[in-house]
Amino acid sequence: MLLHFENVTKSYPNVPVLRGVSFDLRAGEMLALTGESGSGKSTLLHLIGGLDSADSGVIAIDGALMTGLDDGGRAKLRRDVVGVIFQQFNLIPSLDVGANIAFQARLAGRYDAGRCAHLADLLGLSDHLAKYPEALSGGQQQRVAIARTLAAQPKLVLADEPTGNLDEAAADGVFALLCELVAETQAGLVLVTHSQRLAARMPRRLNLSNGQIA
Ligand SMILES: Nc1ncnc2c1ncn2[C@@H]1O[C@H](COP(=O)(O)OP(=O)(O)OP(=O)(O)O)[C@@H](O)[C@H]1O
Ligand SMILES: [Mg+2]
Repeated sequence: MLLHFENVTKSYPNVPVLRGVSFDLRAGEMLALTGESGSGKSTLLHLIGGLDSADSGVIAIDGALMTGLDDGGRAKLRRDVVGVIFQQFNLIPSLDVGANIAFQARLAGRYDAGRCAHLADLLGLSDHLAKYPEALSGGQQQRVAIARTLAAQPKLVLADEPTGNLDEAAADGVFALLCELVAETQAGLVLVTHSQRLAARMPRRLNLSNGQIA
């Protein structure tokens, strides 16, 4: 099992967000995660990515028990196994687009110049490699974030509204490309989307509501 979630709970002060969430994801499996704004989708991805810790329950990734790891152990798992495409992109402002795309792959020890160039080309970024993130549009920054994650070839891709800044036609194209590239590497994918149209195109769908998967 690539990802195992068992009875996971998470609250912020005075805000119970996840109230016992359980699901599994196999290697190569792709699922859409939907739910109203504020339902806890980003929180759930952050727990999987080890960016925050659960209050109770079990999270295991690729056989490793996340809930038993310290910060360093979670960071290593995130670097080696998981790739997060953040809702707010989280690009590194001091690095140009080319270096942003290469960054995660270098950290993971899987940098491949050819793969980076290929991804930049597929995502329409080849003419922007020497620019800095601040000089890009929201949609361009979003595509850099996608390329950066895929360049590192993670076993598990977590994508938080990865087409939220694109118009419908561009969103469809990038969504199809993301699914194709994830399938090529036989990674698992958890894709958060507000779009019922895109969710309907995923083989499996989960909906978060009132802190639980409905
Ligand atoms: N760091 C935090 N501190 C306090 N409350 C938080 C924090 N992060 C999230 N929350 C709260 O947890 C709830 C879930 O937030 P989350 O960002 O996971 O929702 P979401 O489903 O991703 O929403 P959206 O669709 O708008 O991105 C919200 O009520 C939010 O206000
Ligand atoms: Mg969110």
